[in-house]
Amino acid sequence: MNRPDPHSYFDLSQPRTERVRLRLAVDFKKRELRGDCTLYLDRAGAGQLDLDTKSLVIEGVSVPGIAELPFDLGPEEPILGRRLRIHLPPGAREVTVRYRTTRDSVALQWLAPEQTAGGTEPFLFSQCQSIHARTVAPLQDCPLVRIRYEAELLVPRPLTAVMSAAPGAVEPQGNARLFRFEMPQAIPPYLLALAIGELESRDLSPRARVWAEPSLVEAAAIEFGEVESMIVQAEALFGPYDWDRFDMLVLPPSFPYGGMENPRMTFLTPTLLAGDRSLVDVVIHELAHSWTGNLISNANAEHFWLNEGFTVYGERRIVEATYGREVALQHWALGDIDLDGSITRLGADSPLTRLRQELQNVDPDDAYSTVPYEKGARLLYLLEQEVGRERFDLFIRGYIAKFRFTSITTEEFVSFVEAELPGAGAAIKMEEWLSGVGMPPNRPQFRSARMAEIVARAERCAQGERPSGSDWGGWSRAERSLFLDHLPAELDASALAWLDQGLGLGTTRNYELLVAYLRRALRGEYEPAFPRAREVMSTVGRMKYLRPLYQAAGAHPRTRELAREVFATAAGRYHSLSRRVVEETMAGWVA
Ligand code: BES
Ligand code: ZN
Repeated sequence: MNRPDPHSYFDLSQPRTERVRLRLAVDFKKRELRGDCTLYLDRAGAGQLDLDTKSLVIEGVSVPGIAELPFDLGPEEPILGRRLRIHLPPGAREVTVRYRTTRDSVALQWLAPEQTAGGTEPFLFSQCQSIHARTVAPLQDCPLVRIRYEAELLVPRPLTAVMSAAPGAVEPQGNARLFRFEMPQAIPPYLLALAIGELESRDLSPRARVWAEPSLVEAAAIEFGEVESMIVQAEALFGPYDWDRFDMLVLPPSFPYGGMENPRMTFLTPTLLAGDRSLVDVVIHELAHSWTGNLISNANAEHFWLNEGFTVYGERRIVEATYGREVALQHWALGDIDLDGSITRLGADSPLTRLRQELQNVDPDDAYSTVPYEKGARLLYLLEQEVGRERFDLFIRGYIAKFRFTSITTEEFVSFVEAELPGAGAAIKMEEWLSGVGMPPNRPQFRSARMAEIVARAERCAQGERPSGSDWGGWSRAERSLFLDHLPAELDASALAWLDQGLGLGTTRNYELLVAYLRRALRGEYEPAFPRAREVMSTVGRMKYLRPLYQAAGAHPRTRELAREVFATAAGRYHSLSRRVVEETMAGWVA
């Protein structure tokens, strides 16, 4: 036995899946996907084939010539799920599993019509990273097993299906339609993705398109209208875009993340639709994953920082190329605030503050934090500083050329740094960055005169000196966020009323600013903000927003009551991941 991933039953000594075919009927009444999954293997292997499954009902297993092959479904392990062991007969190079998903399938969120913008049709979306693809299909659910796939989804009218794949012909079948997909590029299983709803699309460029519910699609097309120039900038940094198309899907608000880099179909929260393109850094981030994360993937969740740290670094480089050095610095500075917040939450000596993690018996969703993102990005920034941008850019190109379409470990990254940039790792104390807890003393500092001024103005609010509406009006989104983050910890009712009315935060469409304001409003028991806080907490599933809002609500009996009421009515509509984060946050409200 030779298992390279603590979160998978995948065994290196067994045949590997090269290609997958999914044929599924989508049943919104039962809330299940039903059909079969065929795995095409890299070799004929007589003997065991161990697959990952979780929350699936396995109905039968077959290989060509044998309609019912015996199989053995192991006991439920809390993180891994159930091992499906198949005994392949000699010569078998493909195996088909008939199965259906269940209501416990974590990757799937089934939405009632009321949870959509249109309000009349249901919606389904998947979120497989890091280890939930096994709740959608029986697979070798390990990123080392890169797969191509084809899929057929039978979907009731009038709904449309999209996947992280190229769409093919759509075939009418009575009251339903059959959507076909073909994914020609090999991906780690966590990038398998599907969404079904009442959807329309708008072309943004010859290779980019946005999908959304009909009432949102125009706004989405305007918000993300600059995507082609972002792709061009990203190509200048990383090299040619290798996935043919960059399409995006705007999901209903319960989507638990800001964005997910599903190849050929990035998933996005509708909270990015601020109306002024001020939150497109999330799109830039997901686009940057097309190279770091999707072309080169982490070998398993212990090396997650390779995905996210590289991508944040790339994101900030694209921001710099697009909006200039000052704006990029401000994004780094906002990242500092998130990073310090995460380290405080986890504890500075927590093993979860390491880049290279040990996740045996740890659920990747519980290990998730800003640390792999921002600490990882800072490690790469230091390397850049050490060798100079020109050499570092060549290094990045070389890294992508060498590892594209593979899934790698931190150790492979380290060897590559040693080979290509000899001495640089030692000079920046790379080993301490990778294995040490908390932040190393040589962490880079991100300062500018402009930011110092904003921070000073925020601090002077303690003396009642407030910026005018026209000052605020002239600030960028990042400057506004910096200002709000540096306001005095305790704000009285008059200061909160000023944020609400004076700066218009009570009604802003910019969720970054709105949530920064609502956190403070809850903490300050500022009643006029309660209805908006309730509304956001009951509809928006993005965990980055729910966690701080519930945490802020924990400060007073009255706001706790508010949060408990919201949770009691909204919990059933939350994504299971969001529900978990909220429950954990409420459990941390120690009186
Ligand atoms: N790949 C992540 C989201 C993710 C990570 C989902 C781990 C499941 C497990 C995505 O690229 C991401 O980082 N999203 C961020 C965007 C932000 C950093 C710009 C988010 O959702 O906030
Ligand atoms: Zn990411």
